[in-house]
Amino acid sequence: MRVVLVGPPGAGKGTQAQFIASHLAIPTISTGEIFRFNVSTGTELGRVAKAYMDRGDLVPDEVTIAMVAGRLQEDDAQAGFLLDGFPRNVPQAETLKKMLADWGTKLDLVLELVVDDDEVVRRLSGRRTCRRCGRVWHVLFDPPSRSEHCDDCGGELFQRDDDREETIRHRLEVYQQQTQPLITFYADEGILLGVDATGPVEEITDRALSALRRFIR
Ligand code: AP5
Repeated sequence: MRVVLVGPPGAGKGTQAQFIASHLAIPTISTGEIFRFNVSTGTELGRVAKAYMDRGDLVPDEVTIAMVAGRLQEDDAQAGFLLDGFPRNVPQAETLKKMLADWGTKLDLVLELVVDDDEVVRRLSGRRTCRRCGRVWHVLFDPPSRSEHCDDCGGELFQRDDDREETIRHRLEVYQQQTQPLITFYADEGILLGVDATGPVEEITDRALSALRRFIR
């Protein structure tokens, strides 16, 4: 299956992507994660992306699209993929549609995680990520047993630079202005499914998977 996960910052896209992708046996392709990997390893792509990410702005389309096009052509993405964080505006969605059509395929489904702004701020301001294994925690909703360290691998936990409250508010504005129009775009294509993304993580996964089963039946 070729699936896109869309939703505001902090909706739980990364959290849900791992469970949904593993259930469908497809790779997750997260543009945010690819950018952060490039920032942390000091590549030219990371250098270009960092200034935009720190402000909470979108990285320019030509940079992002070239990166995704390359990743989608790798072997593990040929039988399907779950895109987390791409597309993020209508030009990216149109390019993705054309790119897939050129390869003789198309998206099957777009899952929208629906959550309100106050919950987003609560989730993002408490998010902590492991520097070693990348596991995501939350200081209140999913706390590690030692506050500064990952239970899985013992790595140090850090707060993302773009998870400061004023940057979170700006990311939400960017979402409203640039990403929200995708909801209409994909509704018009007849492949949009909304999922209530509030409540416990496992319940949201169950909701997403049962919506998905109904859709593909
Ligand atoms: P990206 O990494 O994609 O950021 P985002 O969309 O803002 O999403 P987040 O990663 O912040 O949140 P999430 O929805 O994955 O939530 P999570 O599961 O972590 O992009 C970062 C930047 O890269 C962008 O700002 C932009 O600059 C650039 N970029 C990326 N893609 C781009 C593109 N296509 N074009 C241009 N630029 C691009 O959960 C958040 C927290 O909540 C965690 O602590 C988690 O433990 C907790 N949580 C999750 N679910 C629940 C729950 N049910 N209850 C309680 N807590 C929960």
